[in-house]
Amino acid sequence: MHTPVLVTEVLSILKPTSGKRIIDATFGGGGHSIAILGSSDCYVLGMDRDPDAIDRAVKVKAEYPSNFDFVLGEFDKLANLTGDLEKFDGILFDFGVSSFQIDDSSRGFAFSHDGKLDMRMSKCGLSAFDVINSFEEKDLAEIIWKYGDEPKSREIAAEIAKARKISKITTTFDLRHIIRNVFRTVAIKKKHSKLDVATKTFQAIRIFVNNELSQIDTALRQLPQFLKSSARIATISFHALEDRIVKNWARSNLTNINYINKSIIKPSNEEIKKNPRARSAILRGFVYNESEVGRQPGGDWRRRS
Ligand SMILES: C[S@@+](CC[C@H](N)C(=O)[O-])C[C@H]1O[C@@H](n2cnc3c(N)ncnc32)[C@H](O)[C@@H]1O
Repeated sequence: MHTPVLVTEVLSILKPTSGKRIIDATFGGGGHSIAILGSSDCYVLGMDRDPDAIDRAVKVKAEYPSNFDFVLGEFDKLANLTGDLEKFDGILFDFGVSSFQIDDSSRGFAFSHDGKLDMRMSKCGLSAFDVINSFEEKDLAEIIWKYGDEPKSREIAAEIAKARKISKITTTFDLRHIIRNVFRTVAIKKKHSKLDVATKTFQAIRIFVNNELSQIDTALRQLPQFLKSSARIATISFHALEDRIVKNWARSNLTNINYINKSIIKPSNEEIKKNPRARSAILRGFVYNESEVGRQPGGDWRRRS
């Protein structure tokens, strides 16, 4: 079960009135799509890279046969996928992983559930198992530092390299055990931290395996190719790396992009109490205004400094 975050706030950004066409680029469990469809007689195109989302999309399609469609794919290819379609009035990105993915031990995402290391949202390509067992120690250290902001990245990479000489690191619990070994010596310092010591490393490997940051950057740059002028954009980030890409994109397109809210929108204490996974969510809302000056013949934005 995945509880969608900041639903009322997302609706107030997207304003899905009758006849509007909205993309839910991260369909997941469909929570936001269902809320959008339930709020007015609009149309939603749901998308997700995870084949497991198809079954959930089929149920939404049964409920809203003429107002909903689903496409399996990655949102950095949205421009191609929507190429022949009428342009859209809004788009939602709810970045990161869903509870369906985290809670399914066979997907190998979480240090809290034992399963074969995997972490692939699309179920294809390089897995966390491949990265952990075959990447050079220095590359692992860089990934853990760059995408996890983990100060002990070098020590963790060294411990991984040592452990895999003895036998392959196969499961999420194997990896968690190795990380915990590194932190044994700093156990007292970490005692009061709410984060498990494995959190940052698992986040880093997941971001790398799924190429998450580059996907976001590419998708945001392509928006003018399939959004109408005055379209509304909602982004939900869960950590600073995602949010930084959104902020940089907005900053470099200030003539085409207006912030709807001056400050970020965070879940209320009440929402966090009901759904602790919402605690790090950061919602931003924008309006896209098409400007001929800002567009190149191919439809991409010219970057402005
Ligand atoms: C936080 S969940 C979204 C939850 C959804 N809003 C809901 O209410 O159930 C993120 C979803 O986005 C999908 N996703 C992440 N990166 C993606 C990408 N580059 N392209 C398409 N889907 C992606 C994941 O597979 C996951 O299902």
